Amino acid sequence: MPAEFFGSLSNHKTPPTYKFFNGNEWVESKSKKTTDVISPIDNHVVGKLQVVTTKEIDEVIEKAKRAQRQWEATPLNQRIKIMHLVADWIRHFEQYLTSLLTAEIGKTHDEAKGEIVRTADLIDYFADEAQSLKGETLDSDNFPGFEKGRIAMIERVAYGVVLAIAPFNYPVNLSASKIAPALLMGNSVVFKPPTQGGIAGIHLARIFEKSGIPDGIFSCVTGGGSDVGNYLVSHDDIDLVTFTGSSDTGVAIAAKAKMVPLVFECGGNNPAVILPDADLHLAAREIVKGGFSYAGQRCTAIKYVLGTKKILDQLRPIILETLKDMVKPGDPRSPETKLVGPVISESAAIHIEEVIQEAVKDGAKILTGRKRKGSLIEPTILTSVKPEMAVVKKELFGPIVSLIEIKSMDEAITIINNSSYGLQASVFSRDEGSALNFAKYLKVGTVQINGSPQRGPDHFPFLGVKKSGVGVQGVRYSLESMSRLRPIVLNKPQ
Ligand code: G3P
Repeated sequence: MPAEFFGSLSNHKTPPTYKFFNGNEWVESKSKKTTDVISPIDNHVVGKLQVVTTKEIDEVIEKAKRAQRQWEATPLNQRIKIMHLVADWIRHFEQYLTSLLTAEIGKTHDEAKGEIVRTADLIDYFADEAQSLKGETLDSDNFPGFEKGRIAMIERVAYGVVLAIAPFNYPVNLSASKIAPALLMGNSVVFKPPTQGGIAGIHLARIFEKSGIPDGIFSCVTGGGSDVGNYLVSHDDIDLVTFTGSSDTGVAIAAKAKMVPLVFECGGNNPAVILPDADLHLAAREIVKGGFSYAGQRCTAIKYVLGTKKILDQLRPIILETLKDMVKPGDPRSPETKLVGPVISESAAIHIEEVIQEAVKDGAKILTGRKRKGSLIEPTILTSVKPEMAVVKKELFGPIVSLIEIKSMDEAITIINNSSYGLQASVFSRDEGSALNFAKYLKVGTVQINGSPQRGPDHFPFLGVKKSGVGVQGVRYSLESMSRLRPIVLNKPQ
């Protein structure tokens, strides 16, 4: 079945060269250039993606712009039906898409399957929620000094052409979390998948196409490096950019984008604060899950833990025991492997190793881990870390958690609020009241009390402040972010 459904995407060679979707057909780029998708498991070439030309990008965006009004005029219930079909096709191809994620990005089978199942449920939820988005009407005399006789009829309408740029760590889920709400709200979508994860991304694009999206409305352009990305984000006919990826890239895109709405989720570098009365076994489990899921390559991963000397002295042995129980690093294809497969590339692993070495040179100690074999890094916990070390200052997308000793909870607040990141923070305490009170001092998007940072459940608002993001995502919030208000005021002169 996958061969029939996806057969036309590639040239069927080994490794396959995939086409890009120009809005109505799958074609090879006239650039004749491709970029390799290298598996972090064994460095084999999983496949090749087209590197599209700027002319091809112009053509795709022109088609999207021309077709958008007709798409917005399509009854919402038809757009909803298409999204439910997308969700059903994703469920149908769960195993095949899961295998692509494992091969392309080294996600363990369980985590890859979890991403696919979650994506289908997310799309269904978006489609159902779109039904309940309502406009409103307002009367002029609600406001002092204004006479009766004017009524504002306020609808939600599309922006136009949405550019959706997805990251390697959730190439199906974080693509659909952008594409689905944008399409439901009547926008056209130009989708740019990551390089690694891009093969899964174009398979997702095929599912959207086959589910009945009309010609021109949806396209999928591929290409490594910044040329394609830079040209897309600065294009005059893009009306909104939604992006998930590193903070550095987010800052660069924001500087290039025209005066359009941005919906960004960027780096998190998330802290966990252990208050003196915390349940240390619970905290340890959440720190291990939060720090090492998908080898720490999540924007919501815990990267450093703040606690007093007394707390950290008690926590260290508990974390080591919990780590042994919850994590088994290895080949992501093996059912034995738990949480930690390889990071996305050997070069990324080498960089992580260098940052660890620098921290040790500056006085940090290795509590456990650090060894690297190819792209696989042992789950690593550093202790005696200082907040000014690079391993804390800059998000390190790998299986590393740093323990930082603080003298007071005020110091914890200062360290967190001085960070250039602000996605989430975890606060552990048996007294939820004091944790709630503490949470209000933290300059982050979301505070998790007695839990590790996470984007889900996906109907919760998800947002970052500072260099962690712009705008709000989450089911209803994404539908709202991908649409704007359009008031029409009826004036009845008295
Ligand atoms: O890194 C992407 C971010 O969205 C993480 O999502 O669901 O793993 O918390 P999640």
